[in-house]
Amino acid sequence: MRPREVHCWKFRPSEFVIDELVAVLSAEERARANRFVFQRDRTEYIACRGVLRHLLSRYAGIAAPDIQFEYSARDKPMLAQRFRSRIQFNVAHSRGAALIGITCVAPVGVDIERIGPLARVSALVPSCFAPEEQAEFARLPERIQPRAFYAGWTRKEAFIKATGEGLSRPLHSFAVTIAPDASPKLLRCHHYPASAAAWTIVDLATDDGFAAAVAVPASDISVVSRDLPPQALGLKQARGYDRHERQRDGVEIGFREEQADATVVS
Ligand SMILES: CC(C)(COP(=O)(O)OP(=O)(O)OC[C@H]1O[C@@H](n2cnc3c(N)ncnc32)[C@H](O)[C@@H]1OP(=O)(O)O)[C@@H](O)C(=O)NCCC(=O)NCCS
Repeated sequence: MRPREVHCWKFRPSEFVIDELVAVLSAEERARANRFVFQRDRTEYIACRGVLRHLLSRYAGIAAPDIQFEYSARDKPMLAQRFRSRIQFNVAHSRGAALIGITCVAPVGVDIERIGPLARVSALVPSCFAPEEQAEFARLPERIQPRAFYAGWTRKEAFIKATGEGLSRPLHSFAVTIAPDASPKLLRCHHYPASAAAWTIVDLATDDGFAAAVAVPASDISVVSRDLPPQALGLKQARGYDRHERQRDGVEIGFREEQADATVVS
């Protein structure tokens, strides 16, 4: 990883073999996994946490089961201080897709969402969007409003996850650009030390039907976004996936990584 880079890894939790990932989880994480009511939520949590541990292991040079996390007052996980690491990360998942952002530049926030129908998103606009965002949304043609809603939503959520505030920050207290083809930007934000212009927000290319974004309180950064198949981490692929279609041989993860075949979005 080069000094001003943010790496974003996209993956499908169901491509991974859950038993292989459970093996690297801590006792606390396993207990949390067991508290999920629905199997789907349990496996998505295990897959995300297991993949996070394997990825961080490559970047930080710590064995995946030995990684320890600490949590902010608002539950944002980070590497335990005892590792004295500059690595910052953030995780998001949404019904079948997941995303992990990793960088040494500054705190990072990521979000990925499955795009829903217009009827559902329209009802959410007044509570999720600031007045100027609502006005921008209303000006857009109906056919692109669902994509616009999720472009705006993922940009906003990536921001509140980078600050670590999560949903404790009122969603009307800051504004981003909403149109999917508009350059993602933080337009206004009260009570946050870094000015709006000091933030970088980038939309990430995803599978059809999803929107995703990453936010970092820094400029002059480059975002490298890639798919992460299990083989890239030396893990098995779950049965039912076409190995050849999804295989990405030669993906090297960590600080020595080259950008050669990556999709660079910034
Ligand atoms: C962070 C938050 C916006 C995530 O919303 P979401 O759409 O449900 O979930 P996402 O898939 O985008 O992200 C979930 C991941 O974000 C991370 N996360 C949790 N809290 C976070 C925070 N405050 N800031 C940044 N990231 C956070 C975790 O890694 C979590 O994954 P995990 O549960 O598997 O560990 C929401 O959970 C939130 O606001 N949390 C704050 C909770 C809070 O204020 N707690 C205080 C308790 S007193």
